[in-house]
Amino acid sequence: MTVDELKALVRSIPDFPIQGILFRDVTTLIGHGDGFAATVALLAERAQAMGAQALAGIEARGFIFGAAAAARIGLPFVPVRKPGKLPVPVLALDYALEYGTGTLEIDPDAVHTGQRVVVIDDLLATGGTALAATQLLRKAGALVEDTLFVIDLPDLGGGERLRAAGLRVTALMD
Ligand code: PRP
Ligand code: ADE
Repeated sequence: MTVDELKALVRSIPDFPIQGILFRDVTTLIGHGDGFAATVALLAERAQAMGAQALAGIEARGFIFGAAAAARIGLPFVPVRKPGKLPVPVLALDYALEYGTGTLEIDPDAVHTGQRVVVIDDLLATGGTALAATQLLRKAGALVEDTLFVIDLPDLGGGERLRAAGLRVTALMD
């Protein structure tokens, strides 16, 4: 499938979760068998080209794509979790995103010092979420230089923000 065909599978819902947000919903993309497979194949190909030694996916939508892509190329998957879910002492960071605030947590032992970890998520908006995930992984010793998304919303400036933090930004579609 072409990227344009994949893009056509993303559903746009106005005013969710709050007034004024145009929500780009991947439920319809992952609900299409060939579309999901093609998306995961493209992500896996990009991650491999980046020299990834592990993929870190951000809960929840980043788990869907990140875990599938990691398994496809035989890489470890590192879950970057919402608060209170991990059964060990965590590294945690508060952050802001397009429509609110949140906290992310990781198990500091889930990555090795110097391990090349690619951060993967379904969507880049303001970049707050991906930047928080990157900071946590770096604090745990990982080498994070690449971020990988299915969708970039360029008008929200996330790409510029991540590049200013020394990250490369790759997205399958705008
Ligand atoms: C969404 C999306 C990204 C983040 C992008 O996650 O999956 O993680 O927002 O926004 P930002 O670039 O402005 O930070 P959300 O927190 O809605 O959680 P979900 O994956 O559990 O739906
Ligand atoms: N996460 C942050 N902004 C979003 C948007 N506009 N659509 C879907 N997920 C998002």
